[in-house]
Amino acid sequence: MAQLIDGKAVAARVRAEVQADVERFKAARGLVPGLAVVRVGEDPASKIYVTGKKKAAEEVGFRSWEHHLREDISQEALLVRVRQLNEDPSVHGILVQLPLPKHIDAERIISAVSPEKDVDGFHPVNAGLLSLGQPGLRPCTPLGAMRLLEEAGCAPAGKRAVVVGRSNIVGKPMALMLLQADATVTVCHRKSDLPREVAQADILVVAVGVPELIQGEWLKPGAVVIDVGMNRKPDGKLVGDVAFQAASQRASAITPVPGGVGPMTIAMLMRNTLIAASGGV
Ligand code: GUN
Repeated sequence: MAQLIDGKAVAARVRAEVQADVERFKAARGLVPGLAVVRVGEDPASKIYVTGKKKAAEEVGFRSWEHHLREDISQEALLVRVRQLNEDPSVHGILVQLPLPKHIDAERIISAVSPEKDVDGFHPVNAGLLSLGQPGLRPCTPLGAMRLLEEAGCAPAGKRAVVVGRSNIVGKPMALMLLQADATVTVCHRKSDLPREVAQADILVVAVGVPELIQGEWLKPGAVVIDVGMNRKPDGKLVGDVAFQAASQRASAITPVPGGVGPMTIAMLMRNTLIAASGGV
């Protein structure tokens, strides 16, 4: 039976570390880090995520603001709001919760956030810095996954890592972080032969949003599995992208859903906001 990687416990530890760092930062700099979260419309999942981010920000000692804007806001008006936050010296981190309504060009909005305040790490400058292996603000979910690997005692150097999913939010930055940590990295997508690729993985990271897509029998025995998926089944049960029961029979360590990667995303957002307030990496 695999070791369970307890993301909830690790996230609590990261948040406590950030809280202690924030106290030192305030004493040294006489400045309170500020996080502005922009939410557009009424997406129910976004509402829950943003509430969690604001609560965590307050707990670690940040100032935080939620800018809740109407679903029918124009692209121009949203850009104006982002530019105001860029100019506001009390705001050190800006996060625009995704997805945005269909009439908004999300790429343009993300590009409008000042790269120094881009605590999501989604801005093209930060994505470029990551791909070059240079310091910059990194996306929170892959950062959290890297920290969970560390906590599980799994050093990526020399290992075969397989990332299933190639999104800009998780899959691509995850692959780049594993590469930077000297893993041999394969990125899979809908045209990949998944059973064949997954069977090679010493480290498997899955972020596709398809309930239980990865069968436990595909895994290499002893693999370390990071499941980024969070899917609600018709019976209301939350499951990941990996069939947990069978996978936990073959893996040496695995993240549960919920309680694995999810809490880490918010914890790393807190760390990123403190980094941004400190003047960058
Ligand atoms: N929507 C789903 N995940 C994320 C995330 O990490 N950041 C933002 N801004 N929106 C998201």
